[in-house]
Amino acid sequence: MNLIQIKKSLRKKIFPSDEIITLLKKHNFKSCLDVGSGTGFFLETLYEKEIIKTGVGIEVDEKYFRKINKDLEIFSKEDLDKTNKTFDLIVFNDVLHHIDQKKPFIDDYVKLLSKDGYLFIKDMNPKNPFCKYFNRLHDLIFAQEIIKEITQNELVNHLNTFTLSDEGTKRIFLYDHYYLLLKRISNR
Ligand SMILES: C[S@@+](CC[C@H](N)C(=O)[O-])C[C@H]1O[C@@H](n2cnc3c(N)ncnc32)[C@H](O)[C@@H]1O
Repeated sequence: MNLIQIKKSLRKKIFPSDEIITLLKKHNFKSCLDVGSGTGFFLETLYEKEIIKTGVGIEVDEKYFRKINKDLEIFSKEDLDKTNKTFDLIVFNDVLHHIDQKKPFIDDYVKLLSKDGYLFIKDMNPKNPFCKYFNRLHDLIFAQEIIKEITQNELVNHLNTFTLSDEGTKRIFLYDHYYLLLKRISNR
């Protein structure tokens, strides 16, 4: 097993795949942008479950850059900016807690969402203090980063040109997750 395969199998153990796949399976998307895709495990899952037809992952870490198959690829934001691609699903899956300036970061990608497109955001729920500090410790050890969460309410308030389509929470071990599916309000 190489490093990417090990990371993928660890992610699967603490990720609420069943709930999220059930939620997203109600839709079919032509094109997906996965911001902070890491190994590409989520892109691959969406593709295998036939929720998306094509996908691009964006990473800062070059070790993840690769063509996964004919329809899925991971590259840099700089390379994305050289294209005029738009997407009907944009995903932020556990990336926002790693970002300092979260709102401009989100807005920079939301520009690439097609009319009537959807945003899917999954992140760590800071509601329970014990879980919050457990996950912060996890990231301090494994990512050597002091992270800062964003709450569901902050996101919904910021994304005021979107309507909440679906949402959920799930705790796995001490990893407390929330997820939101938001749809762009077409006349705004
Ligand atoms: C916790 S991992 C999540 C990876 C993946 N989304 C998943 O669910 O398996 C966070 C990822 O965000 C990436 N990342 C951090 N800052 C970023 C940025 N400014 N732009 C794009 N990716 C970023 C990191 O390199 C890392 O792979």
